[in-house]
Amino acid sequence: MWNPDTYLRFADERGRPFHDLLDRVHAQRPRQVVDLGCGPGNLTASLAGRWPEAEVRGIDSSAEMIERAVADQGAAGPVRYAVGDVRDWRPGPQTDVIVTNAVLQWVPGQEELVATWARELPADGWLGLQVPGNHDAPAHRALRELCLSPRWAQRLGAVGEQVRGVPEPAEYARLLRDAGCAADVWETTYLHQLPVTEGRHPVLTWLSGTALRPVRALLAETDWDAFRDELEPRLAEDYPAHRGVVDFPFRRVFAVGHRLPSDR
Ligand SMILES: C[S@@+](CC[C@H](N)C(=O)[O-])C[C@H]1O[C@@H](n2cnc3c(N)ncnc32)[C@H](O)[C@@H]1O
Repeated sequence: MWNPDTYLRFADERGRPFHDLLDRVHAQRPRQVVDLGCGPGNLTASLAGRWPEAEVRGIDSSAEMIERAVADQGAAGPVRYAVGDVRDWRPGPQTDVIVTNAVLQWVPGQEELVATWARELPADGWLGLQVPGNHDAPAHRALRELCLSPRWAQRLGAVGEQVRGVPEPAEYARLLRDAGCAADVWETTYLHQLPVTEGRHPVLTWLSGTALRPVRALLAETDWDAFRDELEPRLAEDYPAHRGVVDFPFRRVFAVGHRLPSDR
C-alpha cells in the first residue's frame, strides 16, 4: 500500500526530476496529456498548468494515491484521475504527451511497455520517463542484506532477492529509436541534503515512502519497528550527518522520445 503522506515528506526532492524531465518535452499544443503512475497528483497538476487547453489525465494503481490526488485538486480541478494499471493502458490517437515519473522501476517487463507506447505515439507525440537508477546504492544494498539475514530471511527473503534494476540509458535510447522516435536520454546524480530531525535517520524516512513498502506490507507493527531499528545504524554508517544534514546521492535515468511531426 502507498501512503501519500509518507511519500510527500520529500516532495521537493522527489519533484525536481519530474520538472527536469518536462523541461525536455517540447510539445506545443498537446490534445491529451497522460501521467502514468501519477501518485498523489501534486506533479500532475503542473501539467494542467503548463497546457491548460489539453485534457490531462492521471492514472495510478493505488487507490490511496488517487483518492489523495482527487481530494487535493477539489471537485472542479482540471485533471481526470482514475485508478488503473499502466500495464493495461495504451495511448489513444490524441495522446500527444505521455509522462511517467519514478514508476517503471516497479513494473517488470517495462521495456516492452515503453516500446509499445513509443510505437503508438501520434505524429509529434512525446514520451518522457524517469526511473531511479540507484538499486546498487549503499541504502539499497543494506536493505537487501538485512532482508536476507538469518533473522528476517524467512519472511523477507523474497524482498531481499528482488533487485529492482532498470535499463541503462543506452538501452532506452535504442528502444526509442527502434520505435521510430528521436531519443534524448541522460542520467543525473542528485545530491539530496536531507535535514536531520529528531525522528528516524532521514534516509530511513526516505526509504519508508518507497523501497521499504514491500517490507512494511509483510510485517506486523512490532516487527516493522524492530526491522527499522536494525536497518537504521547501517544507514547512519553509510550516510553520516554533517552540520545537521545527511548527503544522499541519488542517480536517476531520464529518457524522452519524440515522434517527428511528419511521421504519420
Ligand atoms: C514513486 S511513486 C511516483 C509518483 C509520481 N509519479 C511522482 O513522480 O511523484 C510511484 C507510483 O507508481 C504507482 N505504480 C506502481 N506500479 C504501477 C502500475 N503497474 N500501474 C499504475 N501505477 C503504478 C504507485 O502506486 C505510485 O503511486
